Amino acid sequence: GTNSSWGGRFSEPTDAFVERFTASVDFDQRLALHDIQGSIAHATMLARVDVLSDVERDAIIEGLGEIRGEIERGEFAWSIALEDVHMNIEARLTDKIGTTGKKLHTGRSRNDQVATDIRLFLRDEIDDIAIELVRLREGLITLAEREADTIMPGFTHLQTAQPVTFGHHLLAWQEMLARDHERLFDCRKRVNVLPLGAAALAGTTYPIDRHVTAELLGFERPAENSLDAVSDRDFAIEFTAFASILLMHLSRMSEELVLWTSAQFDFIDLPDRFCTGSSIMPQKKNPDVPELVRGKTGRVYGHLMSLLTLMKSQPLAYNKDNQEDKEPLFDTLETVKGCLRAFADMAPAIESKKARMAEAARRGFSTATDLADYLVRRGVAFRDAHEIVGQSVAFGLRENKDLSEMRLEELQQFSETIGADVFEVLTLEGSVAARNHIGGTAPDQVRAAAQRARDALASL
Ligand code: ARG
Repeated sequence: GTNSSWGGRFSEPTDAFVERFTASVDFDQRLALHDIQGSIAHATMLARVDVLSDVERDAIIEGLGEIRGEIERGEFAWSIALEDVHMNIEARLTDKIGTTGKKLHTGRSRNDQVATDIRLFLRDEIDDIAIELVRLREGLITLAEREADTIMPGFTHLQTAQPVTFGHHLLAWQEMLARDHERLFDCRKRVNVLPLGAAALAGTTYPIDRHVTAELLGFERPAENSLDAVSDRDFAIEFTAFASILLMHLSRMSEELVLWTSAQFDFIDLPDRFCTGSSIMPQKKNPDVPELVRGKTGRVYGHLMSLLTLMKSQPLAYNKDNQEDKEPLFDTLETVKGCLRAFADMAPAIESKKARMAEAARRGFSTATDLADYLVRRGVAFRDAHEIVGQSVAFGLRENKDLSEMRLEELQQFSETIGADVFEVLTLEGSVAARNHIGGTAPDQVRAAAQRARDALASL
């Protein structure tokens, strides 16, 4: 038969394929509990302004409460013929409470309803994600404190550059995540605005009070413009942009974990529970979790591009195109939550192999800059110092010796200025300890930075 929600105008039923093609209930049923939350607030507001009686309001709220129970228990019979989550729930309400159920949609459209549902849903998800972000950041800070004195090579171009502390490296990750966290909070502000009351596009003739609805739902304020409120999905795009940047950061961390667990680096150990083996090569222990996080970054970038393209060139106000906002958003949320959870579980369990890290730092002439700085302090111009140290490194490569392993006379071949005190700056410990300013890699600075990061988290 013709759809009961709009059958009056139609002379033939919807084509069976078109019915399936246009239906969204298979995926938007995920919004069900937030749809009910929004409807309860709407009915409460309608009674407040005397569009509904208190008796009608109570019947609606009770009916919706029962429906919530049916959905939570998995008993609700979703129907494709009813197209989407909104009409499924409304039809069930009318089944249950009769004509009063048909009054719920007074002064409302699915256009402002769905925009409200997504915002309510996304706000809850954002709050869950923020909790996981805090857990990951805390884990990294704790690990950084433990590894404040651990020395490893720092890299540029993936070539050994200068020694750094592992704690300093971990706090670099933490800083990336702190900015992602700020982006998430900032996005939440723009999610937290109420579309309801915009109705289909122009507002409604009923004497609604949007401030009441906004307050009941915990929104900061009603959206300013009805046309804008029902049409834009920039908040979802913004969330997906946050997610893309976060995943970009997690993919960089993943890449480093994958490199560091390889036999060639051998800097860290990941506990077996985060790895898998090979069905053919008995010796293998593969870092699947970071690899998968690295890989999942791609789908989130794809969702960002989907949503941007979905919104592009849409004329005001609502267009059915926007039904396509949900799957990319939902998958982005699942992916972000999974990756964050994996990282928050895994990060505190990273074990450094300190001897291997120090050995790698020594092998790569990582204190060459320290030797140049030493010469500069003794009056040599930096460019000349650079040349002297370059010759010393070339000698070391021929003799297979690090700078700190050379005898004083060997070093003095290249500059008379070098004295016995040079060995204090050529050690790895001396090198990192000397970078003792805010933002530097010295162990004391790492401990201070970790404390500041902790305080920042505590004051969120
Ligand atoms: N399922 C629709 C969506 O996701 C709900 C709004 C539909 N509105 C309309 N006028 N067809 O966007």
